[in-house]
Amino acid sequence: MNKAKRAAVIAGNWKMNKTPAETTALINDLKPLVADAACGVICCVPFTDIPAAVDAAKGSNIKIGAQNCHWAESGAFTGEIAASWLKELGVEYCVLGHSERRQYFGETDETVNSRTKAALAAGLKPIICVGELKEERLADKTHEVLDVQVKGAFADIAAAELANIIIAYEPVWAIGTGLTATDDQADEACGYIRSLIAGLYGQDAADAMTIQYGGSMNAGNAEALLAKENVDGGLIGGASLSAEKFQPIVAAASK
Ligand code: PGA
Repeated sequence: MNKAKRAAVIAGNWKMNKTPAETTALINDLKPLVADAACGVICCVPFTDIPAAVDAAKGSNIKIGAQNCHWAESGAFTGEIAASWLKELGVEYCVLGHSERRQYFGETDETVNSRTKAALAAGLKPIICVGELKEERLADKTHEVLDVQVKGAFADIAAAELANIIIAYEPVWAIGTGLTATDDQADEACGYIRSLIAGLYGQDAADAMTIQYGGSMNAGNAEALLAKENVDGGLIGGASLSAEKFQPIVAAASK
């Protein structure tokens, strides 16, 4: 078993939820509940919540992430945020290529790759999201989709950077729908992604790569999903918005 070689990481993706004041309250509620976690704990918050989140998490084991960053260092990109500015605020992680960004904001494998490079150059740790649509799974195209997305995201990324990258397998049909991939589906897809990393960078790199599952993970299903050999953590949407719902997932990953 290679699972022991990998860090388990539970990351909350708050999406467009919580005001700065609500952020302070949620991180303060969460801190004592996850203080003894044996896994990584990350909250990926909206840009405007970052100062409040960093401040509230100070001195705790909770790390703060953003949900996107731009590939340029500055310039005429109205509405965008540079990776180095996030770093300056105390952000450590950055979700990239989330399916909602791909679906609603024109994110492509190429832009995910550009953003990944910028995040790494700024010293941020990308959480790169990949996953198939329902039609693609039904048409038996899951591997094909993962192949294109993983190879696209990792184009020209040096092997030395891999330790700073997390991959999240998020089947789009399971996000926010209450439909979860079965334990075996999650394990199989995460295992396939691992084989792609092995093909690109070798087996040792693949064995060390943290690959999360995301898509309606909650207190009820987390333990079984996280017990799978290839599932090294979770990217949690809905269940990350309250300390009571998030804590049991962190506890499940700490076993
Ligand atoms: P969900 O979202 O847990 O609400 O399904 C997961 C995600 O989009 O990262």
